[in-house]
Amino acid sequence: MTTNAQGTGKRAVKAVIPAAGLATRFLPATKAVPKELLPVVDRPVLQYIVEEAAAAGITDVLLVTGRGKTSMVDHFDRRPDVEQRLEEKGDQVRLAAVRRTSELADIYTVRQGEPLGLGHAVGTAASHVGNEPFAVLLGDEFVDEDEPLLPAMLDLQQQTGGIVLALLEVKPEETSRYGIASVEETDTTDTVKITGLVEKPSPQEAPSNLALIGRYVLPGSVFEAIADTKPGSGGEIQLTDAMATLLNQGVPVHGIVYRGHRYDTGMPLGYLQTVVELAVKRADLGEEFRAWLTEFVGGRKG
Ligand code: G1P
Repeated sequence: MTTNAQGTGKRAVKAVIPAAGLATRFLPATKAVPKELLPVVDRPVLQYIVEEAAAAGITDVLLVTGRGKTSMVDHFDRRPDVEQRLEEKGDQVRLAAVRRTSELADIYTVRQGEPLGLGHAVGTAASHVGNEPFAVLLGDEFVDEDEPLLPAMLDLQQQTGGIVLALLEVKPEETSRYGIASVEETDTTDTVKITGLVEKPSPQEAPSNLALIGRYVLPGSVFEAIADTKPGSGGEIQLTDAMATLLNQGVPVHGIVYRGHRYDTGMPLGYLQTVVELAVKRADLGEEFRAWLTEFVGGRKG
C-alpha cells in the first residue's frame, strides 16, 4: 500500500455493484425487468444502493450487468422528454426526483458474460478499478439512510489498507445463507479483527453467527486473488474464498458489526417487508398507509 505522511492510504472512491444475476426467486416478474429495478414505493432498489454510495462520497459506480439488464443504466440517464413535460405541468417535486437520478453518480458498466459467482462478478471490475481500494455493494440489500455503514468502513480501510467487511449477527440456523467470519475476542463490540472466513457453512460447521452482509471495502490486490480462486461453494467462484486467501497472506481483515436496520430485498418476503417499512416512513403517504395497515392487520379491511 502507498501511504502518505499521516500513515494512511488512499480512500476508496469507486464502487462496484454486481447486478448480473437472473433473479429466479422473483420470476415471472423478472423475465423482462431486472430485480434491481423492482420498486420500493417509487424508487427502484438499485437507486437506494447508489444513493447509499453517493452519501458516503462515492460517485464512480460500476454496474456489473448481464443480458437483458441494460434498463438499469437507463434509470440513471437523463430523460429530457419527461423533464420537459413535468416542467410544463409545473410539477417541481417530480422534476427534481427525476433529475436527481442522473445526478447521483457517474455510472459505468461491464458485462459478466456467464454467471460464475460473486467473486467472478467482482473480478470483471479489475480494469475499471485498477490497483486501488474500492467498495462492493451487493445489488439487493441496503441500509437505513439514517444509520449509514459505509463511511466507517471507508475510514477503517483507509487506515488499515486491508479488507473491511460488514457483519450482522444472524440466527445460528441461518449461517448456510451467508459468508461467516471467525473473529478475535475483543472488548470493543463494533469493530473486530477477522481471523477466518468461510462461505455458507452449515450451523454445525459455522465458526460464529457473524454473517457477511453485502458491503465490502477491498484493496486492489483482491483481483489477483480472485483470478487464482477455484470454484467453491455451489460450484461458483466465491469472493469469500478470494478474501480468505488474502487473509492467509497476512492482509489485515476487519469487520464492523452493523447494529442498524438492513433491508434485504433479495427474496420476496424481505422485499415485501422493505416496501411496507419504507412506505410507513414516508412523509407524504406514511400516515395514511400506517392507518390503513393497522386496520387491515386488525382484520377490519381487505
Ligand atoms: C453473497 C456472498 C455471501 C454473503 C451474502 C450477503 O451470497 O457470497 O458471503 O454473506 O451475499 O447477502 P449470495 O446471497 O449471493 O448467495
